[in-house]
Amino acid sequence: MKELVLVATNLMGAIPTSIFNISSLLSLSLSENNLSSNLPSNIGLWLPNLHGLLLVGNKLTGIIPESISNASKLTLLDLNSNAFTDDILPTTIGNFSASLENIQADHCGIRGNIPNEIALGKLQILDLSNNRLQGSIPDDICPLKNMGDLRLNENELFGLIPECLGNITSLRYLYLNSNKLAFVIPTRLGNLKDISEINMSSNSLNGNLPPQLGSFKVATLIDFSMNQFTGKIPSTIIGLQNLVTLSLAHNKFQGSIPDLFGSMVSLEFLDLSYNDLSDVIPKSLETLSHLSYLNVSFNKLRGEIPNGVPFANFTIQPFMLNDALCDAPKFQVPACHTSSFHHLRKKRVALALYILLQIASILLATTFVFLFIKCRRYKSLSNVDLLPTITPPRITYQQFFRATNGFSESNLLGMGSFGSVYKAILEDTTVFAIKVFNLQVEGAFKSFDIECEIMRHIRHRNLTKVISSCSNLDFKALVLEYMPNGSLEKWLYSYNYFLDMLQRLDIMIDVACALEYLHPDYSMPLVHCDLKPNNILLDDDFVAHVSDFGIAKLLDFGENVTHTNTIATFGYIAPKFGLEGLVSTSCDVYSYGILLMETFTRLKPTDEMFFEDMTMKRWINESLPNAISHVIDTNLLKLEEEHLTAVVL
Ligand SMILES: *[C@@H]1O[C@H](CO)[C@@H](O)[C@H](O)[C@H]1NC(C)=O
Ligand SMILES: *[C@@H]1O[C@H](CO)[C@@H](O)[C@H](O)[C@H]1NC(C)=O
Ligand SMILES: *[C@@H]1O[C@H](CO)[C@@H](O)[C@H](O)[C@H]1NC(C)=O
Ligand SMILES: *[C@@H]1O[C@H](CO)[C@@H](O)[C@H](O)[C@H]1NC(C)=O
Ligand SMILES: *[C@@H]1O[C@H](CO)[C@@H](O)[C@H](O)[C@H]1NC(C)=O
Ligand SMILES: *[C@@H]1O[C@H](CO)[C@@H](O)[C@H](O)[C@H]1NC(C)=O
Ligand SMILES: *[C@@H]1O[C@H](CO)[C@@H](O)[C@H](O)[C@H]1NC(C)=O
Ligand SMILES: *[C@@H]1O[C@H](CO)[C@@H](O)[C@H](O)[C@H]1NC(C)=O
Repeated sequence: MKELVLVATNLMGAIPTSIFNISSLLSLSLSENNLSSNLPSNIGLWLPNLHGLLLVGNKLTGIIPESISNASKLTLLDLNSNAFTDDILPTTIGNFSASLENIQADHCGIRGNIPNEIALGKLQILDLSNNRLQGSIPDDICPLKNMGDLRLNENELFGLIPECLGNITSLRYLYLNSNKLAFVIPTRLGNLKDISEINMSSNSLNGNLPPQLGSFKVATLIDFSMNQFTGKIPSTIIGLQNLVTLSLAHNKFQGSIPDLFGSMVSLEFLDLSYNDLSDVIPKSLETLSHLSYLNVSFNKLRGEIPNGVPFANFTIQPFMLNDALCDAPKFQVPACHTSSFHHLRKKRVALALYILLQIASILLATTFVFLFIKCRRYKSLSNVDLLPTITPPRITYQQFFRATNGFSESNLLGMGSFGSVYKAILEDTTVFAIKVFNLQVEGAFKSFDIECEIMRHIRHRNLTKVISSCSNLDFKALVLEYMPNGSLEKWLYSYNYFLDMLQRLDIMIDVACALEYLHPDYSMPLVHCDLKPNNILLDDDFVAHVSDFGIAKLLDFGENVTHTNTIATFGYIAPKFGLEGLVSTSCDVYSYGILLMETFTRLKPTDEMFFEDMTMKRWINESLPNAISHVIDTNLLKLEEEHLTAVVL
């Protein structure tokens, strides 16, 4: 006989001894009975051929006999739910058969320490949860290089989480929840890039969550609740696009909820309750269409409660006890007073930016004046591909009005403080974009004139064309080529939009072509100064067109200052330009470099993970050549993997 299965057969008392005469047994299962004796001390000697021993759900007592190690072919030992009372398992576990792959001893009444000699090289699953294990997790567990599933939850373990746990890169499930573990999460855990579920809830862990969490790219469950973590929620977390469950509740997290939380498209369960989170609930959460549980109560959040799809079914309860959430009639909270929740910090940044931009704009204007004098002088020589003046179609205000449905909101494509851009459909069904300048705003006249002047003189496949303009004393507008596919920003960061590797490469080549055209080495260059994903527009064929010329930053500046978008532009400014106000073609080259890195990592240069010495450039540089998969946009990797699998199949 090779296999004996007596599951749920009402066996009581001691295990019938005759079973131990069947020395040929490979598999013995006596699970779900009422066996209540000790295991015979010679069990391993009598049944030396055992591969699997399953004794789940009995009332076995005593010790786990050392002779288990004589069953040298044992791969599965399942003792879940028994009543062993001695601490004997832990001290002999290292002597168990070297072939063991799976040890289950959940709810077994085991006490004592995890022994240092746990040298079971083939072990893949170790479940010692719900016991009374004490002491610390020994480093000796780390050489278990095949371990995929480690469950030590609900014990009395204390001390550090060993840093070398990060060496077990095969780990997929790590459960350390409900122990007494303390101190910080070792950054080396970031090496666990195949981790699928990690629960560290209900310990005494503290310090910051390391940004390396961002490498848990395939994780579906992360629970760090009920600890004493402080600092900001690392913004790298937004790259975890497979995450279904995220709980950071009951900690001391501060700062704002990362802006792009909405990019964790798989989220169904999000608990951030009971922290010190401040600022607004990011609008991007509206895109989490699978979100069915949200709790941000007991924080210091303020401002508007988003009202997109997933918020439709929420009651006020998940938002309770915050500072000043507002503007959601159905939640019966007061309307928002827009100025009431501006952050002091944001104000300061905005002020600094404003001063910087003032300096920049003066310099820019000077450059442009200089440029145009030069340009006129060299017109006949210039290689800047000047086209013969074409007579633009005359379009009247009335035509504009009709073409935009009376400048209706449904036609609005974007807004800057100097004006708004509308989609316009003329009678003959041609589609344009119209940039209407808001002349109430100081500087709008000048910016209109400058942009008109520039756009009249340049023309290139990768620049947006100005088709016509309309200018009188109280109405100024530019008619631009309409770009049906919107901006690169949209394609990088909006849910449901995706560009593959080649498309991104093509776009970056297009932008480089535009720059090459603007920066000829034999005549006066034109410096764009505001390259960023928002200003790269895509036509029907995904050909990129650089838009918003030169003073675009002036155009966008003003009422937008309170939005992070304008602050984001900050990351694209070359340090020299930012600090010394120097305008040169190098500024564009710098911005181009940032743009290039952003396009393939899908991470903003202003991301929180970049601070002090850790710049985007350094981060990427350090990942070369072996760890490039850590920095590259995971969506690209997923696709590549699919291709590979397809090829292999
Ligand atoms: C085990 O025995 C108890 C009484 O001692 C009985 O209530 C229970 O149903 C038994 N369980 C099984 C699985 O036979
Ligand atoms: C096996 O059977 C023999 C008799 O047939 C008996 O003497 C011996 O004790 C048995 N061994 C075990 C382990 O039950
Ligand atoms: C059983 O295991 C022990 C300890 O590993 C060893 O000393 C002993 O020789 C083994 N017995 C047999 C019969 O293999
Ligand atoms: C179990 O292993 C430990 C250390 O590896 C050793 O000291 C001890 O003698 C072993 N016990 C048996 C029964 O083999
Ligand atoms: C873990 O890995 C690091 C570096 O890869 C190495 O220095 C260290 O010795 C390893 N630790 C263990 C316990 O294997
Ligand atoms: C994580 O562990 C805690 C504490 O043991 C438990 O309450 C919680 O349900 C676990 N989280 C998940 C998502 O399973
Ligand atoms: C939200 O979290 C708070 C604090 O953790 C808790 O008291 C409350 O019951 C939770 N609300 C819901 C709807 O689960
Ligand atoms: C809201 O609830 C309704 C009815 O319970 C359900 O049909 C709908 O799918 C829910 N919507 C979301 C976004 O969960």
